[in-house]
Amino acid sequence: MANPTLLILAGDGIGPEVMAQVTRVIDWFGAKRDLAFDVEHDLVGGAAYDKHGTPLHDDTMARALEADAVLLGAVGGPKYDELDFSVKPERGLLRLRKEMDLFSNLRPAQCFDALADFSSLKKDIVAGLDIMIVRELTSGVYFGEPRGIIEEGNERVGINTQRYTESEIDRVARSAFELARRRGNKVCSMEKANVMESGILWREVVQRVHDTDYPDVELSHMYADNGAMQLVRAPKQFDVILTDNLFGDILSDCAAMLTGSLGMLPSASLGAPNADGRPKALYEPVHGSAPDITGQGKANPIACILSFAMALRYSFDQGDEAARLEAAIEKVLADGARTADLMGEEGGTPISTSDMGDAILAALDASL
Ligand code: IPM
Ligand code: MG
Repeated sequence: MANPTLLILAGDGIGPEVMAQVTRVIDWFGAKRDLAFDVEHDLVGGAAYDKHGTPLHDDTMARALEADAVLLGAVGGPKYDELDFSVKPERGLLRLRKEMDLFSNLRPAQCFDALADFSSLKKDIVAGLDIMIVRELTSGVYFGEPRGIIEEGNERVGINTQRYTESEIDRVARSAFELARRRGNKVCSMEKANVMESGILWREVVQRVHDTDYPDVELSHMYADNGAMQLVRAPKQFDVILTDNLFGDILSDCAAMLTGSLGMLPSASLGAPNADGRPKALYEPVHGSAPDITGQGKANPIACILSFAMALRYSFDQGDEAARLEAAIEKVLADGARTADLMGEEGGTPISTSDMGDAILAALDASL
């Protein structure tokens, strides 16, 4: 049987640096676990703009649709701030999400024991934290029409539209309930049904999907502003949080920081299953391109490597190998390996991006 294919879009800023460590990990699984992938590389974001004048070339889009999974590093940077909106690096990522129809974005926020001290919250509030945000990713205010900046009288008006169809809410709700059944069996759905019609519909449809097909899962509803407050007050009350595109963007950054460092968090963006049962899928770290540390060997590759672990689990049905990789990372952290972003009050000497890669490969070897 042919090897599964991975398309790597390392992108901008620290993307290529952290992805170089992921490539080593992928090679390790090929060499040591008989789990070989056919890996291709292409450009996205500013890197694609520099070469092609567009943040995502049509050929790259076509390759992404063909690949069994896409791994993405990061997009954007100050160099591109002045570009026209239509060719900004972020548009490349949004096009991938939209055309691959990756409607369900899984963002785990897990607090590693070794790092509980790094959270800005008290240790007992975050120790052992393990929540999953399911963010709708292909609709809502990010894509709704009408949109634009128009002239009205003697001034301009900026317009975006929050828009959700019942079927869009239905399918992402299902993915949250399915996921909850494999975890703590609880879903908290967040919207602003107190001020937004789209929120009223969201709440209604989520409740209906629950009552019809997932009555065994515990469901609650919360206004998104209260949700943000509860996330910093008592995050461990949550298991799966289901929310829309914009609230999910905000709440997931908040949840991410609970864990101490953005450099630790992976994500999976999943679409409907193909004929072979694999969902269309793109995996990326939650951190951005971090232009302030680009090219210095300081970046933490763990979020990107954990994104590959999510690929093993959700695209390739290799949950045991994903757990092996996650355990290796946990061990490396427990042994005290720290990149610069993980330097707490106790200080110490940070290790480089590639040193972290070395440590993780050594821990993988030790797991055999
Ligand atoms: C994210 C990012 C993106 C978003 C940007 C880069 C378009 O913030 O993935 O959370 O807003 O969705
Ligand atoms: Mg974001």
